[in-house]
Amino acid sequence: MRNVVVLGGSGFIGSHVVARLSAAGCSVRVPTRRRERARHLLPLPTVELIATDTFDQATLQRLVRGTDAVVNLVGVLHGRRGTPYGPAFERAHVRLVDRLASACVAEGVTRVVHVSAIGADSRGPSMYLRSKGDGEAALRAAAGLRWTILRPSVVFGAGDNFLNMFAAMQRIAPVVPLGGADQRFAPVHVGDVACAIEHALRGPRSAATVGRIYELAGPGVYTLGELVRLAGVWAGIANGRGRPVLSLPAPLARLLATLLEFAPGGPLMSRDNLDSMRQPSIAGGVLPGFAPELGVERPASLEAVAPGYLGQHGLAGRFDGFRASAGR
Ligand SMILES: NC(=O)c1ccc[n+]([C@@H]2O[C@H](COP(=O)([O-])OP(=O)(O)OC[C@H]3O[C@@H](n4cnc5c(N)ncnc54)[C@H](OP(=O)(O)O)[C@@H]3O)[C@@H](O)[C@H]2O)c1
Repeated sequence: MRNVVVLGGSGFIGSHVVARLSAAGCSVRVPTRRRERARHLLPLPTVELIATDTFDQATLQRLVRGTDAVVNLVGVLHGRRGTPYGPAFERAHVRLVDRLASACVAEGVTRVVHVSAIGADSRGPSMYLRSKGDGEAALRAAAGLRWTILRPSVVFGAGDNFLNMFAAMQRIAPVVPLGGADQRFAPVHVGDVACAIEHALRGPRSAATVGRIYELAGPGVYTLGELVRLAGVWAGIANGRGRPVLSLPAPLARLLATLLEFAPGGPLMSRDNLDSMRQPSIAGGVLPGFAPELGVERPASLEAVAPGYLGQHGLAGRFDGFRASAGR
């Protein structure tokens, strides 16, 4: 696997994947709709940035032509509402995967590693999870592809859009009103997810990952309320105590989420996020997790890593947090 296309390579997880593949000597093609967003990849010697909207079949075929494998990390967290999901989810999670699969089949590129999410299910509780489920189904239905599907829980690491956002909120708000505070997550480190993707592509036992779905969960399980509190503590907010978390009852959480959906930029929390949290984002125990073929012996714990990057109190650290929460 020397030549790889990484869709979504400019994003949080994608950037780690691209850096790993480049360090391993692979030539990596990264399409991006906003070259500006991917400029941090420019110094990597074997990475080719392609400014394009990877959506139509012809563009996708040109993109994958002559490569050995494709990694798909395209994802959206918010979008207009609809049944079973709104147009942004349909476009990014389902139609794109369907067209990508057809493009790969047409160009004879058979190896695809696809990143979905824990709980992906066509009949799941949220638009996000339903569209992720349908995207998986589209990939699996394509004849002749050798796919691997990875389903992470929430992903943490420097520049994440999760703990950084909770820390940024606590820098400006005296108290954090929170819906779904009791919902459970098993945060997984971005480095471990990137390692699993690389091993699925080119590890010594990569063949064992073909046709399998893995749930990538970290070693600890936390409620959302605990994660918000820890983000505040590790970011040193309120002298290291963090702000109080105010757990909202479900109707109030929904009302707040509805209001946040009308705020400029991506909402901090949407009704669909609340719907996703109706089921825990933890490994279900039925699908394999970090099996040996994924090359991660011991997934990193939140405690070992997050205090390091959240605890940068300087201006640069704060701007990183704001940039992460603004999705830039
Ligand atoms: N981060 C997590 O906690 C987490 C947890 C579970 C699953 N996942 C899944 O992992 C994948 C990567 O997540 P991430 O956190 O790295 O996401 P991210 O930082 O938001 O990056 C998303 C990437 O997708 C591309 N993209 C978004 N919408 C697109 C569209 N309509 N058409 C084409 N490209 C589009 C963006 O590319 P450009 O803007 O450069 O074009 C960007 O590179 C996603 O599928 C996500 O659902 C993430």
